[in-house]
Amino acid sequence: MAKIERIGILTSGGDSPGLNAAIRGVAKTVMREDVEVLGIQDGFAGLVENRAERLEWNQVSGILTLGGTILGTSRNKPHKWPKKGGGTEDRTDDAVKSYKKMGLDALVCLGGGGTQKNAFRLMEKGGLRIVTLPKTIDNDVFGTDISFGFDTAMTIACEAIDRLHTTASSHHRCMLVDIMGHRAGWLALEAGLAGGADVILIPEIPFSFRKVANALIKREKNNKRFSIIAVAEGAEIVGEGARKDDGAEDPEGDGDALLAPSLSHRLAAFIQKETALETRVTTLGHLQRGGTPTPTDRALATLLGAKAGECILHGEFGVMIAHRGGQAVPVPLAEVAGKKKLVPMDDPLIKTARLLGLCLGD
Ligand code: F6P
Repeated sequence: MAKIERIGILTSGGDSPGLNAAIRGVAKTVMREDVEVLGIQDGFAGLVENRAERLEWNQVSGILTLGGTILGTSRNKPHKWPKKGGGTEDRTDDAVKSYKKMGLDALVCLGGGGTQKNAFRLMEKGGLRIVTLPKTIDNDVFGTDISFGFDTAMTIACEAIDRLHTTASSHHRCMLVDIMGHRAGWLALEAGLAGGADVILIPEIPFSFRKVANALIKREKNNKRFSIIAVAEGAEIVGEGARKDDGAEDPEGDGDALLAPSLSHRLAAFIQKETALETRVTTLGHLQRGGTPTPTDRALATLLGAKAGECILHGEFGVMIAHRGGQAVPVPLAEVAGKKKLVPMDDPLIKTARLLGLCLGD
């Protein structure tokens, strides 16, 4: 195999704590073997528009603990490029041209489910040599036990629940905390369990308002004068199906933002009417993606990033570096692209919640 001389790296989709740690992991690994690294700006937008700059060692050093991404990101997809005046066009050819113009021997794409799909398309349609990494606070990337960003977001959500506990108990209130996670319940489930929530509502288990209210009434009868409800932003009501975003629905599961309002405020109004509890809603939103990654995320992103660098040096392409059983494992992108990892009904965390008698709304 011809020596790898230059690679590109981009970060795409919603930012996630640990991205800079991963960029550092990839870049340091290959730079030590005299491979040049181009930082492509703003995700696939920079690839389509040929925007990149050479990264020096000192730019990838000292960024381990930094939140966000030094490269910038976007939700742009080459094959669905927004046109002025509305509609979209396919600019895959421009992305392929830039890859060639930049003189890349390989491209590393850091992103969630949408990124895995877009990267796979570029590999299939344009013949690009690609390695990807799974990043998302939602933890819904298929094929990996965990994605970097999740631990930080889960920690932030759990801290928020801890803080809501003291004010809820002082005022004898019901507190709903609306937690990101897109159409997966991992964040709400794990933060809810770790924070001691009384009710946890996730998209995988459609819930009924009545069941939630009944659980709160039962708590009151047991002299519990406050309650905490962890609501995943994608939670669904029994019989209503998934929330639809006006004109911005995500039929391909590309991980775009959920723009329709979550159910938290509707549920809060119902609870206040049906129980004696004053009810308040806290939406954590993008706070969950901001700031310094936890040590767990830093270590995970570094592990996966370094492995991506090693794969490139060995000429292994068309893979996502997954985390499986504590190891960084390259898995074919073809096995990952277009799939989502949702919470299975036999997940140990679901079982645990039920053993403890938590209400899951069903
Ligand atoms: O995928 C990460 C995520 O934070 C989801 O949890 C959320 O639904 C979405 O991104 C928000 O996207 P945006 O930053 O585009 O508003």
